[in-house]
Amino acid sequence: MPLVTTTEMFKKAYEGGYAVGAFNVNNMEIVQGITEAASELKAPVILQVSAGARKYAKHIYLVKLVEAAVADTDIPIALHLDHGADFEICKTCIDGGFTSVMIDGSARSFEDNIAETRKVVEYAHAHGVVVEAELGKLAGIEDDVNVHADDAQFTNPGEVEEFVTKTGVDSLAIAIGTSHGAYKFKPGQKPQLRFDILEEVSRRLPGFPIVLHGASSVPQDLVKVINQYGGQMPDAIGIPEDMLRKAASMAVCKINIDSDVRVAMTAAIRKYFAEHPDHFDPRQYLTPARTAVKDMVSHKINEVLGCAGKA
Ligand code: G3H
Ligand code: 13P
Ligand code: ZN
Repeated sequence: MPLVTTTEMFKKAYEGGYAVGAFNVNNMEIVQGITEAASELKAPVILQVSAGARKYAKHIYLVKLVEAAVADTDIPIALHLDHGADFEICKTCIDGGFTSVMIDGSARSFEDNIAETRKVVEYAHAHGVVVEAELGKLAGIEDDVNVHADDAQFTNPGEVEEFVTKTGVDSLAIAIGTSHGAYKFKPGQKPQLRFDILEEVSRRLPGFPIVLHGASSVPQDLVKVINQYGGQMPDAIGIPEDMLRKAASMAVCKINIDSDVRVAMTAAIRKYFAEHPDHFDPRQYLTPARTAVKDMVSHKINEVLGCAGKA
């Protein structure tokens, strides 16, 4: 099956009350771990590439790795640009083999966000590519941009109909209290998501796919492993999985996960080196790292997203 857009995936996910996982990819082991899990569980999957990933691995390497995964499996796979900052990067990815792009105008004014998103949508749709946009502002770190919690802004449901109508966008990321990175809530803080905003947005946009960024749960057992073997990650709390399950059963059709995959790989590698301090062949420590990615993604598909068997 060739690379697909997210149109069919989201239609089925909306109707079926589940979500498709969008996992960030930066190298071969991550691509393989994710797609092996999705393939075994017959789940559709979105592989997403950030500006940082393109800088690290180069556009062409990531596209070829994803093409290899497409040839190696029989599940629907979409290749998506995560947090495209402007028209130019979106155009480069549309021209360069992606089937979906995000134009992240969340730091712009409402009017400017509409104008830039509209421009991307016109170009993308003319090339058979779908577009995700964002309204509201998530806290946390993405690329080198760190949005402090005080500057985060929940999505205003009163703006969504005008935004979607004027831009023609295919899906919309909203801010309801999730945030990027491994430190979402401080210990003792009670994680909360504004499901009332999600409900109001979906009431105003019936049948329209909503996207949740910053949806890692930061499993404490893995943080413990990292710290047990020399790491120094501060205690932090991620998004509880029952909240993500609830979001997936509502209008949320795409759930973005990156930090949990990073934490899983790092825990596996730290443990490996603690147990084999004399080893130096990268294949030896990247094998358990790849398995850790696969286990994490299998867990998300089965316990959070509900998309097993939906390929
Ligand atoms: O939302 C951001 C993703 O976690 C990507 O992170 O920009 O460090 O690749 P990155
Ligand atoms: P996490 O940092 O919670 O994994 O979020 C990833 C994300 O939103 C990528 O766009
Ligand atoms: Zn994000």
